[in-house]
Amino acid sequence: MSKIKAVITGVGGYVPNYILNNQELSTMMDTNDEWITSRIGIKERRILKEKNKGTSFMAAKAIEDLFSKTGTKPEDIDLVLCGTTTADHIYPSCASMAAEKAGIKNALAFDIQAACSGFIVSLATATSFIESGHYKKILVIGADKMSSITNYTDRTTAPLFGDGAGVVLLEPTTEEVGIIDSLLHTDGVGMKHLHIKAGGSAHPATHETIDKKEHYTYQEGAYVFKHAVTDMSEVSADIMKKNNLSKDDIAWLIPHQANLRIIDAVVQRTGVDYDKVIINIDHFGNTSAATIPLGIWESEKKFKKGDNIILTAFGAGFTWGAIYLKWGY
Ligand SMILES: CC(C)(COP(=O)(O)OP(=O)(O)OC[C@H]1O[C@@H](n2cnc3c(N)ncnc32)[C@H](O)[C@@H]1OP(=O)(O)O)[C@@H](O)C(=O)NCCC(=O)NCCS
Repeated sequence: MSKIKAVITGVGGYVPNYILNNQELSTMMDTNDEWITSRIGIKERRILKEKNKGTSFMAAKAIEDLFSKTGTKPEDIDLVLCGTTTADHIYPSCASMAAEKAGIKNALAFDIQAACSGFIVSLATATSFIESGHYKKILVIGADKMSSITNYTDRTTAPLFGDGAGVVLLEPTTEEVGIIDSLLHTDGVGMKHLHIKAGGSAHPATHETIDKKEHYTYQEGAYVFKHAVTDMSEVSADIMKKNNLSKDDIAWLIPHQANLRIIDAVVQRTGVDYDKVIINIDHFGNTSAATIPLGIWESEKKFKKGDNIILTAFGAGFTWGAIYLKWGY
């Protein structure tokens, strides 16, 4: 009997309508379009402006998009996993809130916290659940409202981030397509260089922490940059080597979108042609766990059944990794 594999059978996405471009950012802080474009590669990002709407709103919109494209019914879904750092509340999970909004009643739903690597870690987890036979229709979401944890008076972090949500449907197959391999890593050395200081259990929010803006992202950019370049490049090369893939075997490379210069380094290390690299950082910015599923969402029509695709991400923790998959439709 052929082995059961997990294959992506549909994709949905959502980004808010509001566009925050570099010109508008330049009126909010001491920065400019030329610096942001050349140092990061971002022109504009989407921001969820509506009051009282959080990440689960965007995730549910992405699920509705997937349902309408694939004809999937909410009652058929048996597991919902959401990679996110910006759940609407500390609890319940974003996955359970998005499932409720999308009318999903027969599923287990929970979040996976691996920062910007949240989608690939969720996809690898979902793959194990499909391969073991435990679940048959899994929604794997990557969603973040980064604007909710971004300090718009800090020019070193504010230009980087945007809001969005992407989701894929994962199902069993006995065909030679689907998720083939994953390499995932964590190194806690990253904590002090990229974190949110207050609002968690070690330092619950107080008037003082709010006044000091400690509920926003703190990042030592240059240190994080160096690790992102090395770790994403190495893990992408490692997974290609492990699976005997040359650069010409790769149809698409979908890297996490934190900085165009980091993506360039991954492209150089893997040797993959630049026209096979999916890029959305210019118009969406770093949407954290959503960058990769949004890349799949925007490029779905370009993919052909059997295409070899490498996903790679890096984020707080540090967490990083790569997934090798064959496109299924
Ligand atoms: C954040 C990041 C874009 C900063 O770029 P950088 O080239 O490292 O820039 P630096 O922090 O060294 O700053 C260079 C100069 O630009 C200035 N600068 C920083 N932000 C600026 C901005 N928005 N506009 C204009 N100038 C800016 C700095 O003040 C500094 O000036 P100085 O030399 O006079 O001190 C980059 O480090 C980065 O992308 N880091 C990794 C992000 C990442 O992967 N995060 C992972 C989470 S997913």
